[in-house]
Amino acid sequence: MKICVIGTGYVGLTTGTVLADLGHEVYCVDKDKLKIETLARGEVPIYEPGLSELIVRNKDRELLHFTTDIRRAIQKCPVIFITVGTPANEDGSQDLTAINEVIKTLAEEITSHKTIITKSTVLPGTNEKIIETLIDKGIDSSMFDLISNPEFLREGNAVYDMFHPDRIVVGVKRKESMKIVEELYEKLDAPYIITSLTGAEMIKYASNAFLATKISFINELSRICDAYNVEITDIANALGQDKRIAPYFLQAGLGFGGSCFPKDVRALEYAAKQKNIVPEILTAVQHVNDTQVDVYIEKLMTHFTKLEGKKITVWGLAFKPETDDTRESRALVLIKKLLVKGAHIQAYDPIVQLPQKSITVHHDIYESIRGADVLIIATEWNQFKTVDWKKVKDLMKGDILVDGRNIIDPKRIESYQFQYIGVARQ
Ligand code: UGA
Repeated sequence: MKICVIGTGYVGLTTGTVLADLGHEVYCVDKDKLKIETLARGEVPIYEPGLSELIVRNKDRELLHFTTDIRRAIQKCPVIFITVGTPANEDGSQDLTAINEVIKTLAEEITSHKTIITKSTVLPGTNEKIIETLIDKGIDSSMFDLISNPEFLREGNAVYDMFHPDRIVVGVKRKESMKIVEELYEKLDAPYIITSLTGAEMIKYASNAFLATKISFINELSRICDAYNVEITDIANALGQDKRIAPYFLQAGLGFGGSCFPKDVRALEYAAKQKNIVPEILTAVQHVNDTQVDVYIEKLMTHFTKLEGKKITVWGLAFKPETDDTRESRALVLIKKLLVKGAHIQAYDPIVQLPQKSITVHHDIYESIRGADVLIIATEWNQFKTVDWKKVKDLMKGDILVDGRNIIDPKRIESYQFQYIGVARQ
């Protein structure tokens, strides 16, 4: 099948590349000329494990093409994926500039039947509006099918997730348009959840909001456990073994970040308010997340009268391991708050090398720790689990280790004479 994928962010790029690997002929489109040139050379502008090899392989098989010529790609392909960004406005509403631009171009270029598939995360009701817009622009409804097919790709695991979905969610207007979807994903082994356009949009928000709720729940619980000297990992383990709860997304820590959870919880809250519904849980989920970093700053304050002038090393800047993405990263939120308190920040991340005026980012993990009063692990990169703790301790001036992701065994670390602060670890 000839497929055009509009937008080459991590969703578009992964979707397009995997579809090519499944045997389709894919044209990935972006208006960023530099990005397209880079991709056409087989270089990948984002860090996503496994993606680069797959791009090169399918480029060589001539199944994967990169172009800035959106009009030609639309004309060539009967199937169009929309995977452009939908950034959030302050109030949780969405900036649909990129989607609207694509729809405008589509309306100008539709001369044969197109199956248009929205993968971008959009607020409930958006796909119905897209249909109205296309019809308003003079496109006969028989000339296109619009499908909502939200993505559930985790950054850092996007390729795996695309090949092994738990389910494929498809919102359709007409049941017959499922034929194309079944052909597209023929080689994937996953059940279909077929619903309305708005139902599919809602499933996407519900999934992310529920996962975020699990995280804020375990983080709130960690505060209570701490007060009762209870080990949070025991609680999470026990909860997770109840099949009704499941063990995932119960890792207590500094909170959730990234380009999806914070934005999507805010968006669902906004959607509820638009219909005069007071979304109490969604608001609380965000509040716990926003204050989780403060809990650990307060813990630090019990060791020092003030943080002014203290040298604090932060390990991990990405919002989670295996990505170079720092959007809404808790590490950056934490750093910002520590800077306000007058601390000097030095940082290290295996991938992220942020050019920053206010902090020093080191290329060497051990250099980053030299002379530090405090070490904070903000992101659970594997590398941090296997460092030479004796060397770390010797390089530090102080002895406080804040394990913001509970990746260190507190018993083991104490033999190196650290004062260990974990997330409800006993
Ligand atoms: C998330 C969803 O997991 C994907 O299914 C979805 O497709 C994607 O959003 C999206 O909407 O595009 P992602 O943002 O890549 O994926 O990251 P996650 O692995 O879900 O982690 C999100 C945040 O939660 C991270 O900051 C992570 O550190 C935190 N987290 C996760 C915890 O604090 N505790 C946990 O137990 C799990």
